[in-house]
Amino acid sequence: KKLSEFKNEPFTNFSTNENKQAMEHALAKVSKELGREIPLYIGSEKISTDEKIISINPGNIDQIIGKVSKGTSKIVDSAMNVALEAFESWKQVPAAERADYLVRAAALLRERKHEFSSLLVLETGKNWAEADADTAEAIDFFEFYAREMIRLSETSILRPLTKIEGENNQMTYIPLGVGVIISPFNFPLAIMAGTTVAAIVSGNTVILKPADTAPVIAAKFVELMKEVGLPDGVLNYVPGDGIEVGEYLVEHPKTRFISFTGSRAVGCRIYERASKVQPGQIWLKRVIAEMGGKDGVVVDETADIDAAAKAIVASAFGYQGQKCSAGSRAIIVESVYDQVVEKVTSLVSQLEVGAPAENYPVGPVIDQKSFDKVMSYIEIGKSEGRLLNGGNKTDGNGYYIQPTVFADVDPKARIMQEEIFGPVLALAKAKDWQEAIAIYNDTDYGLTGAYFSSSEERISFALDHMHCGNLYINKKCTGALVGAQPFGGFNMSGTDSKAGGYDYLLLFTQGKLTSRVS
Ligand code: SER
Repeated sequence: KKLSEFKNEPFTNFSTNENKQAMEHALAKVSKELGREIPLYIGSEKISTDEKIISINPGNIDQIIGKVSKGTSKIVDSAMNVALEAFESWKQVPAAERADYLVRAAALLRERKHEFSSLLVLETGKNWAEADADTAEAIDFFEFYAREMIRLSETSILRPLTKIEGENNQMTYIPLGVGVIISPFNFPLAIMAGTTVAAIVSGNTVILKPADTAPVIAAKFVELMKEVGLPDGVLNYVPGDGIEVGEYLVEHPKTRFISFTGSRAVGCRIYERASKVQPGQIWLKRVIAEMGGKDGVVVDETADIDAAAKAIVASAFGYQGQKCSAGSRAIIVESVYDQVVEKVTSLVSQLEVGAPAENYPVGPVIDQKSFDKVMSYIEIGKSEGRLLNGGNKTDGNGYYIQPTVFADVDPKARIMQEEIFGPVLALAKAKDWQEAIAIYNDTDYGLTGAYFSSSEERISFALDHMHCGNLYINKKCTGALVGAQPFGGFNMSGTDSKAGGYDYLLLFTQGKLTSRVS
């Protein structure tokens, strides 16, 4: 049957009693199920190992979310064999049939939306709206890539090749092989599932290594795919150490591609390791990397100052600044600088920090390592700027840090240049709008940006000159919507792919041309 036109999954309005109660109910249910032991899923087998990753609630660190078996290089080898074998049959399953698994998974996920969101709240410290958006985005990826795969399989009809008399020429897109998915903690459902299903629906089989800090939500997704009957061996779940499992997979001669989302340091390392041709390897590995950002909001003197201040705060502190799209810088034109800074400060002072389960706007950062890193950047910030808000940890049984704002920061300062991945915002002053755009562009990254202005001429200049993959005008720089705002950036932000966009599945396929005499 033909699929309806793609539509984004609506967000839940938690201000209605009904939705609030539904979420509370789901949180209570999921809280009761915490702490279970989770095996590795390889083919039809469940493998339990002695060594475990203990996933905890970053907002209540005594609460164990799950005890997850840990892969080893030996287990990776057997997962690779299983995935290679499954590839032989999976690649022959018609596109529409592959897509159907995604559509059915989306339907189940929609039914259990709050349950998945609750696990996100507890395992990764998202507030309700952030968790709900993550789940909605996962549903979107399923529905979107299902439709995209069908479209890609109809390329010869949709984009026919040049006609040559007496010949029949056809292009088809065939899968690559076994892929490795290394997914991040910050969109532990949407990006984890999105990158996985994109690879799968294109006809590949995969080994999924989720983030150490979010393996339980990934297991719940894998279980969902099993429930819809995805054939064994198509999706294999192997959490584990970055070197013993991650790097081993990257260097494996049978790995055909790596889809990575995470830090710049790890992305660069994967890119380098993957480029070395190993004994027995008969292809060049493809690397799809989504790395960091030092994203920013630019405000000129013609802008709607209230809207700009709100967007700066939302971009900087949504999910505690732990988005690759987070606007951790704002560059403001001198004549409105004090005004914007004052509004930003006042909005930030209203942001309460507290437990995600109780839906405080600002929750914890993901783990101790991240907490230490953010706190050390706050110390650096104290010597690089004027501290306006925050600057300390806060009480609570978790990794809570106050939303922190520094003003008068030099464009070359470390907190203007380096990705912090936490609730820290740097504000810089520019003499005019051109200088503000130049400061915005003075970065190694190029993921998201926003420009606030009411001048058509300047907006048109900004559209051309702000060098980033996702540029927003008069709106915040986070929250790209699948299908509407394909997402991915330039330079050190990654390999320039666009998740949730029309060309994304091409990354998981190769074009095969056939030409025959008719
Ligand atoms: N896609 C997310 C956003 O736009 C970030 O990964 O905020």
